[in-house]
Amino acid sequence: MGEAVEVRPGRDADVGAVATIWREGWRDGHLTHVPDALVAVRTAESFAVRAGDRVADTTVAVVGGAVAGFVMVAGDEVEQVYCDRRHRGGDVANTLIAEAERLVAAARHERAWLAVVAGNGRARRFYERNGWIDEGPFDYPARTDDGPISVPCHRYTKRVANR
Ligand SMILES: CC(C)(COP(=O)(O)OP(=O)(O)OC[C@H]1O[C@@H](n2cnc3c(N)ncnc32)[C@H](O)[C@@H]1OP(=O)(O)O)[C@@H](O)C(=O)NCCC(=O)NCCS
Repeated sequence: MGEAVEVRPGRDADVGAVATIWREGWRDGHLTHVPDALVAVRTAESFAVRAGDRVADTTVAVVGGAVAGFVMVAGDEVEQVYCDRRHRGGDVANTLIAEAERLVAAARHERAWLAVVAGNGRARRFYERNGWIDEGPFDYPARTDDGPISVPCHRYTKRVANR
């Protein structure tokens, strides 16, 4: 048994921790799997800016008083499930995806969806283990300051409504 995992809404004070986990996890899941032009603009500063902009959409997982991972939910889309390296393979990611599904259902959506980079095998295995269905490949327009960059992804969905 690992340490207890708590989830709560993100706060401004979490932005630094979220940005660090996001920057490291993005590289772990995306390098070699996305266009070089996207890697070039995903700088440390870009993650700090985006983490600050997205506080209202952020839920954090806390272990032992420290942020151990986060998820962002926007409407029916589950975005950015990220777990600190030290907390992968434990309860943090499972707790975050369950909370994200609960939030999508609470916003009265029947089905949640997410995009995962085609080459991110660990994340795809994680979603499938949690009951998400691979709906096949599509190109996701990753947002950048200079406009969207098309990234080869798979769309996953999961029914989240209780009835
Ligand atoms: C994706 C993430 C949240 C999953 O959390 P996690 O705690 O690492 O997930 P788990 O270890 O419980 O599950 C991962 C599964 O992938 C498997 N796996 C590990 N490495 C793998 C690889 N290279 N290829 C395929 N499967 C892999 C694991 O064995 C496990 O499967 P199992 O439960 O059948 O044994 C976490 O790895 C992470 O933060 N990654 C970096 C950020 C990222 O890519 N986020 C997703 C963006 S869409």
